[in-house]
Amino acid sequence: MRAISLALVAALTTALNPAQNPDANTTTNIWAYEASFNWGKLSPDYRLCQTGTQQSPIALSLGNGLSLNHVPLFNYTGSIAGNFFNWGYGPAFTLTHNGDWTSHPSFTYDDKTLYLKGWHIHAPADHSVGGDRSKAEMHFVHVDAEGHEGAVLAFRLDPGNFNNTFFEQLPPMIGFDEMQLQEPTEMDLSLALDSVQYFNEFWTYQGSLTSPPCHEGIRWFVARQIMFTGVGQMQDILGASTYSARAEQEVWQHRINE
Ligand SMILES: *[C@@H]1O[C@H](CO)[C@@H](O)[C@H](O)[C@H]1NC(C)=O
Ligand SMILES: *[C@@H]1O[C@H](CO)[C@@H](O)[C@H](O)[C@H]1NC(C)=O
Ligand SMILES: *[C@@H]1O[C@H](CO)[C@@H](O)[C@H](O)[C@H]1NC(C)=O
Ligand SMILES: [Zn+2]
Repeated sequence: MRAISLALVAALTTALNPAQNPDANTTTNIWAYEASFNWGKLSPDYRLCQTGTQQSPIALSLGNGLSLNHVPLFNYTGSIAGNFFNWGYGPAFTLTHNGDWTSHPSFTYDDKTLYLKGWHIHAPADHSVGGDRSKAEMHFVHVDAEGHEGAVLAFRLDPGNFNNTFFEQLPPMIGFDEMQLQEPTEMDLSLALDSVQYFNEFWTYQGSLTSPPCHEGIRWFVARQIMFTGVGQMQDILGASTYSARAEQEVWQHRINE
């Protein structure tokens, strides 16, 4: 990250960061995770990072209970084409888009259906649970039929005893820091859902993007089950990642599990 030019950072954050607003003046407003407490002061566009009432991430615990509301039902089928790339802070994947979001894998909750745009990984995890922070966290970003971000599925990642078949689908991450090309990859994305028993237990809350401009109106679903990877797989993920967890936000109007 530090070695590449500001122009590239701007291009990456504008084009690839799933949590980045392309309208924001990223050329002059470079933000860094090391200073996430101060994002709201970098630009008027990032004001919500400081003043928002539903900012993410937050600390969760079993003291919150688990959600009985907004239960997600998934329609993720088959092998999906997309590009594997480095979003600037770690591994990421964007689904090939033919102009019709409704053709993407989707999930439904309440009366809403949202469509998968792609995933990316933060290290360490954004959300802590019971004070425990996983080594990494994967976000499946979903949009509505018009392409507006509406919900994120959060998978907490930790090393376990076996390789995870989801990550076995990825090309090697050797030289990933320098990888600027998108690498065409086919993935069965439902393998991630398998790893966390299709969100049979989860927390949900009203939150925001976890990077500037910190837009709100995002419904978060955080799986209770940890998604375990092999030790070597976790080392590959961490080796390909740069510190990318936002400082935890105060719980305010998040309506956890409501
Ligand atoms: C970004 O900000 C710089 C400096 O304030 C300004 O010169 C430039 O025109 C801005 N670009 C856009 C696209 O707003
Ligand atoms: C599942 O999604 C596909 C598009 O990927 C769609 O054609 C199909 O109708 C959906 N099935 C249900 C039950 O919604
Ligand atoms: C598990 O994954 C690691 C890292 O990707 C790989 O080096 C190793 O060969 C895999 N082990 C098995 C048993 O497939
Ligand atoms: Zn994210």
